[in-house]
Amino acid sequence: MERMEVTETFAGIALPGHLHTQESLGFAAAFTFRPTDVLIATYPKSGTTWMQEILTLLFSLGDARPAKTIPNWERAPWLEQIYCREALQDTETPRLLTTHLPAHVLAPALQRSKAKVIYVARNPKDVAVSFYHFHHLAKFLPDPSSFDDFLTQFLEGTVHYGSWFDHVKGWLGQRHLLDILYVTYEELHQDLRGTAQRLSTFLGCPLAPGTLAALEQHCSFSAMRDNTMANYSLIPNEIMDHSQGRFMRKGVVGDWRSHFSPEQNALFNRRYQEEMGAMELPSQWPM
Ligand code: A3P
Repeated sequence: MERMEVTETFAGIALPGHLHTQESLGFAAAFTFRPTDVLIATYPKSGTTWMQEILTLLFSLGDARPAKTIPNWERAPWLEQIYCREALQDTETPRLLTTHLPAHVLAPALQRSKAKVIYVARNPKDVAVSFYHFHHLAKFLPDPSSFDDFLTQFLEGTVHYGSWFDHVKGWLGQRHLLDILYVTYEELHQDLRGTAQRLSTFLGCPLAPGTLAALEQHCSFSAMRDNTMANYSLIPNEIMDHSQGRFMRKGVVGDWRSHFSPEQNALFNRRYQEEMGAMELPSQWPM
């Protein structure tokens, strides 16, 4: 199947032209946040969709109907994508928003507001594997060719959405400037209830009786894999070729071990050390 090879470049980063224009990116950069807004910020494949589902359940006090009847891109629109302006027209507060943009693009607008930010990060080795597989079905991304080539581009930061290292360092750099909570994909795996409680405290969103049980049920990998409002199966085949794999692929921690050669792992560790060695990382950080 043919690829939709249009690329938009913004802030030095390549983005799929099918979803972004200079106008939509400018709209995001100049966005006026409300104090009640909640923004999920992630590098792709880090647990974005999972967090969208968890926050949907928290805000609905455990009622699964919104998660089962409204597509996630309407429940938590991507600020930088072309349909965002329209999607936000009649949205009540609190608005749930999503972004893959780097911190330096949104930080000025966020710093002027009291909006809350939830940054989700994942072990970058698993991000690279998940992103590689996603390139096979996402026709709006370039053909990934071999895993080795893809990994080289990932480490160089020349893949779409830019460098994982820059993304993470940029958002970590906002820790004293924004009302921001750092969550990891691995934590969600290890202790979904505990992390949901941490989110509810951060958001000032009380937990109704039964919310945690409903959240555990509807935000499990299998429930989300079967939920057409979360699993992207509604996206037409020309945009996501569903014969090439599933968006909800494996949902595990440590899948990189079955993809990386010892040489690739050594190279990755070296690059990670060079880029992240001096960073003060949150205690629950993966790697
Ligand atoms: P894999 O490709 O490793 O399976 P994003 O939403 O940021 O694009 O991230 C997608 C990744 O999160 C995919 O990883 C997907 O399977 C995983 N994921 C989504 N929902 C999940 C859940 N409920 N439990 C575990 N993993 C989940």
